[in-house]
Parts: sequence; structure tokens; C-alpha cells
Amino acid sequence: MNVSAERKKKPTAPELANALPPDEILFGRSGAMKEVRKRATKIARTNIPVLLCGPKGSGKEVLARWIHAHSPVANGQFVKINCAAIPGTLLESELFGFEKGAFTGAHSTKPGRVELAHNGTLFLDGIADLDLASQSKLLQFLQDGRFSRIGDELERSVDTRLMCATDKDLEEEIAEGKFRADLYYRINVVRLKLPTLRDRREDIPAMAEYFLARCQEQFKAQAEPLTMETLHYMQCMDWPGNIRELSNGIARHVLIGPEATILEDSSLPVTPALPHVPANGVVPLKRLCKEAIRASEKNIILAALRANRWNRRKAAQELKISYRLLIYKIRDAGLMTKGKNSFGSPRG
Ligand SMILES: Nc1ncnc2c1ncn2[C@@H]1O[C@H](COP(=O)(O)OP(=O)(O)O)[C@@H](O)[C@H]1O
Ligand SMILES: [Mg+2]
Repeated sequence: MNVSAERKKKPTAPELANALPPDEILFGRSGAMKEVRKRATKIARTNIPVLLCGPKGSGKEVLARWIHAHSPVANGQFVKINCAAIPGTLLESELFGFEKGAFTGAHSTKPGRVELAHNGTLFLDGIADLDLASQSKLLQFLQDGRFSRIGDELERSVDTRLMCATDKDLEEEIAEGKFRADLYYRINVVRLKLPTLRDRREDIPAMAEYFLARCQEQFKAQAEPLTMETLHYMQCMDWPGNIRELSNGIARHVLIGPEATILEDSSLPVTPALPHVPANGVVPLKRLCKEAIRASEKNIILAALRANRWNRRKAAQELKISYRLLIYKIRDAGLMTKGKNSFGSPRG
């Protein structure tokens, strides 16, 4: 590793989060992401409101920025509001601005964020976290693009493209009375759903290499190349933090090395200990037992692979099965993708 002593200092979480600027995107070749790319390309040409759904770290903001950059309002600003970070009472002043003296502490006039987003994009991140009062105010504004700064009579109007993101199930939030159905219909004109990283395992090696190259450039540092074993292992992880977790892991590898640090925060693959038993009184014993056996087998195979640093020949010997059968079982358990993959022929 060719990094200075200072660089070897463990970076803080915000440093890692900022390690890779979210202005580039890698779609990958998984079926799920090909579909996202196709739809995003079409959506980008229009001005319709988009709702981006998917778990934390799955790339909702990165995709929103990409859509903005490829849209008719690309020359305008991309204005992001993190709904979870702004308390309900402050949201109105943040969104619509205020006049000097409108309330205690309003020492000078401040334009609203919606004004900055005029002829650009307004990106409301974590939309499910808005309280009901803020939801009503937002809905009023979305109906005609008109608003007034707090403490100002003048009605203003802006033209902005709206994108919202959430990792929650808004329909569930509506059913629980936490989210307004009418607001939901207004923001959910088209929806893009981003998959979890474990639902696109075939993209992991390419993403890891991509982050490695980007990170080395960004930090002007040279890191060890990723070994086949590490790439294999990474494909088996569950990645609860999704792409953010992967990119942070690679940043750690570049800044502090060695490879083991990539997996520092990651949970081991989660295999349900027992299959889900339906609550409706029907207990299909044969099927449930089969699932339980498969889950245990997957755990045992993973443990053997890990113990042998992904040397599959050694793992097969240890498990007292043939090499071919092990390869079949690895694929069957979804631990490796079928067909050609980016790390070539088996070494073990
Ligand atoms: N498709 C992608 N291509 C490249 N980097 C990505 C991609 N998706 C996510 N990332 C990386 O992961 C981090 C988290 O993505 P982000 O869009 O903030 O996730 P979310 O908004 O869903 O929580 C980003 O900072 C970026 O480094
Ligand atoms: Mg986000």
C-alpha cells in the first residue's frame, strides 16, 4: 500500500460517506438494473414526478441525480431536502423561505428551497418522514406550484421537476394513517424500484472494481488488487447497507487496507435458521423440512468455503463430496451466479 501515515488513519464515517461523489452511476448487467436503466432513460426525457423506492444505500439519490443530469432541466439546480433531518416546524420555512421579521430569529429574508429549484429538480429524500402537517403544505404547493414565503403576502410560483425517495412502504404508511393518500398519488406518477445489493449479486465484482478504481483516483493511492477469493466472498455477503456499505468497504481497503477490512462492518450471510411456518393452520411439513435442510446445507458449505479461503477443491475434500457436486451446490444455493462471471475459471 502506497499511502501516507496520515491516510492510514481510520477515516470517520462522514469521510467514508463522502469518499465517492454521487455524480456517477454504474447500472450493472443484472436483469433488475437493466430494467431500471431502461425506465430511467425514458423517464429522464420527461418532466413527470418520479418516486424512487428501495432500501437504504441502494442508490436512490445517485439515480435521482442521474435522471436530473439527463433531463430537460439539467441546466437548473438539483435541490435536495432531507425530510428526516428537518423537524416539521422548520420544514415550511426551509421549503418556502421567509421574510425578515416573520418570526423570532428571522433576522433577514431567506428564499425557499423551492425557489432554488425553479427550472431544476426538487428532490425530497425520506418523504415518508414528513409529518402530516408538512404533508398538507407540500400538497398545496404541488397542486399548482404556488407558494408564499412565511410573513409575505406575495404569491410566488415556480416550475420544478419533483423527485421523491423513500425506503418505506408508502402504501403501508397510508394504511396506518401516517401518510396522505392524495399526496402519494401526486408524487407516485412513475415509480422506480431499486433492488437490494443481494438481489443483484452478479453486479458485485464489477461494482467492487469500479469503486476500487474510483477510490484510488480520488485518494491518489494505490491499493492491492482484489483477489478472486475476496470477490467470491463479497458475492456471498448479505450487504444490509447495500451499495453504500460496499463502497465504504472499498474506501477502507484503499485507505487502510488490507482486504479483510472490506468486510469489517458486514454481517455474515443470513440464512434463516428455521423456515417460516405459515400462521393459517396449514403446515406443509415436507416442504418446510426441505427448506430447512437446504438452509443448513448452505450454512455448512459457506463455513467450509470460508475456512478454506474459497479454495473449492479443498472445501470439497473436507465436505467429502466431489468438486463438481460442490460447484453445483454453490450455484444452487445462490452463492455464485451461473454461466460466465467476471472472475473466470475456478481456481480451487
Ligand atoms: N449505481 C451506482 N453507481 C455508483 N455508485 C453508487 C450507485 N448506487 C449507489 N452508489 C454509491 O452508494 C452510495 C449510496 O447511494 P445513495 O444514492 O445515497 O443511496 P440511497 O439514497 O438509496 O440511500 C453513494 O454515495 C454512491 O457512492
Ligand atoms: Mg439516501
